[in-house]
Amino acid sequence: MDFNRRRMLTGSAGAGVLALAGLVVSPAASAAPAVQTDGKLPFAPAGAPDDVARDEKYWRQVAKHFEMTDATVNFENGYFGANPANVRTAFAEATERIQLENSWYMRRDYGQEASAVRERIAAELGCSVDEIALTRGATEALQVLIGGYNKLAPGDAVAYADLDYDSMQYAMNWLRERRGVEVIRTAIPEPATRQGVLDHYTRLLSDNPKIKLLLLTQVSHRTGLVPPIAEISAMAAERGVDTVVDAAHAWGQLDFNVTDLKSPFVGFNLHKWMGAPLGAGFLYIRKDKLADVDRHFADGDYSAGDIRSRIHTGTANSANYLAVPAALDFHRAVGAANKQARLRLLRDRWVHQVLDVPNLQILTPEDPSMYGALTSFRIAGKTTNAQSTAITKYLSEEWGVFTVRRGGVALGEVVRVTPALYNTLDDADLFARALRAAAARF
Ligand SMILES: Cc1ncc(COP(=O)(O)O)c(C=O)c1O
Repeated sequence: MDFNRRRMLTGSAGAGVLALAGLVVSPAASAAPAVQTDGKLPFAPAGAPDDVARDEKYWRQVAKHFEMTDATVNFENGYFGANPANVRTAFAEATERIQLENSWYMRRDYGQEASAVRERIAAELGCSVDEIALTRGATEALQVLIGGYNKLAPGDAVAYADLDYDSMQYAMNWLRERRGVEVIRTAIPEPATRQGVLDHYTRLLSDNPKIKLLLLTQVSHRTGLVPPIAEISAMAAERGVDTVVDAAHAWGQLDFNVTDLKSPFVGFNLHKWMGAPLGAGFLYIRKDKLADVDRHFADGDYSAGDIRSRIHTGTANSANYLAVPAALDFHRAVGAANKQARLRLLRDRWVHQVLDVPNLQILTPEDPSMYGALTSFRIAGKTTNAQSTAITKYLSEEWGVFTVRRGGVALGEVVRVTPALYNTLDDADLFARALRAAAARF
């Protein structure tokens, strides 16, 4: 990370001014300096996570592990996670080995190494290796869980909310044809509060006793909202309703074990907040619930009692999975609780500077249990696609901060803001100034 350039940006009126002065470098011209990490992982200092989160010297060290362009301040880290240097190295080495040794390696050794990766994930997540199977991402994992769930019959109902991810909504909608069930779509009430969300799901389940399967999203990709998943899952289970949790954004951003979610079915990504190469995720099925998900297209490679029969990806990019242990090493070195605390601090840093702006709506509540890095905002009344696109364009072109618009929220479009570990407090300060200016302008 080029801190000189960051200082330059944060000390000015923004990139619009720099652009006029000819000082903004194009992505092609902005190769970041080589990463100098001496191959060592950035082990966090001892201390309470909230104290570690404020240790700027330590986070500058962490940032050095991420070789990034300095052509923008990237506050759109929700798409996928930058890989730290050790992961890039592991991925490059695995790719080289696969090419060099070809099928001789893949047919003899890969299976065992992939099993070791599963074991490592299971140990890190607090479950048994028999409860997870590798996928190419959360989409694949959740499609298997939703589509393969075999306890539904005509007359039953399933439910999801506006904040759930689009392709998971599609999969739930598909159950209407696939299983003959009623599909109930709800909207999480705004402004979101812990009690409001709990009341919403209590009402939903009480009013619709036919619901048998409920989709929940641990961190909404639209607003950043983290609902009280464990409470909702437990309440659902008491009523005989199974939950499937979309944890695409959760692991590596929030500090938890899978058993904390109290849900039998969870889909995970490794290529977002765990910093693994693109194309890596996994599914979790609690041991006692394996039979409730069909084998994937009648898979015959593994027995019905083996969770690997629930996903048959075919020949995929195995180097992704081989680099996962390096990603978990990095995650452990920084520490799950420290990552969570730092990401919340970066979010708080910009949010707390704009809470007084009257026409700005912040879509996550001031309850740390209900957010991580992601938080979206809305400029009151500017809820169309064209308006949110114009806001992100302004933030990018005039202030040099990259964000993304998100649709699909019942009350209108939002702009999502997602810092990552390599971002600085200066980045967040710059963004707060940019947002104040945007709120005045739009
Ligand atoms: C909440 C949520 N669920 C599922 C997914 C799908 O993840 P992937 O595209 O990595 O499979 C995403 C991706 O952004 C997401 O944000």
